[in-house]
Amino acid sequence: MNTRSALTAMTIMALTTTASFAQDVPAAVEARQGQFKLMALNVGVLGNMARGNTAYDANQATAAAANLVAVSMLDQSFHWPEGTDEMSIEGTRALPAIWENTADFGMKWQAFGAAATGLAAEAGNGLDAMRAALGPVGGTCGACHDAYRAPQ
Ligand code: HEC
Repeated sequence: MNTRSALTAMTIMALTTTASFAQDVPAAVEARQGQFKLMALNVGVLGNMARGNTAYDANQATAAAANLVAVSMLDQSFHWPEGTDEMSIEGTRALPAIWENTADFGMKWQAFGAAATGLAAEAGNGLDAMRAALGPVGGTCGACHDAYRAPQ
């Protein structure tokens, strides 16, 4: 390889590196998606018990519900910076409507927290009580996704 083509190759490498950095998903987006993954994991534990896929276990149900309450208490201020909607960047399904309706979005997050708190009070009280309190939590997931999450 002569000097000129070596330099060209280096330039191309530098450009591709820059481009791949530019496409990196912002940390805030990864953080909020991580919190939703935690929520899905813990809802899944409870959902499997509710559907009879796994045996109801009061301690595990209580732990999963407590995890949901813990996530619901995370301050959301840093997770939703302007310019991280799905029209502006790759790697997110957050609809621009979030930033046009921040009060409503916040209320939907709070509704999830309230339902999770209700679930935590019942999760250890037997399968039927847990199942009855899990439904409203699932409702708050769906209500927010319908309004603010783009379909896959
Ligand atoms: C206040 C609104 C809101 C609530 C409440 C909510 N979600 Fe979401 N969820 C979103 C938004 C917006 C996204 C897209 C985030 C992104 O891609 O940046 C999302 C994404 C997700 C994802 C995909 C995460 C990933 O890997 O990209 C999962 C899973 C998820 N939510 C599960 C849940 C579950 C389970 C609940 C209820 C226990 C819930 N969500 C409640 C708004 C909400």
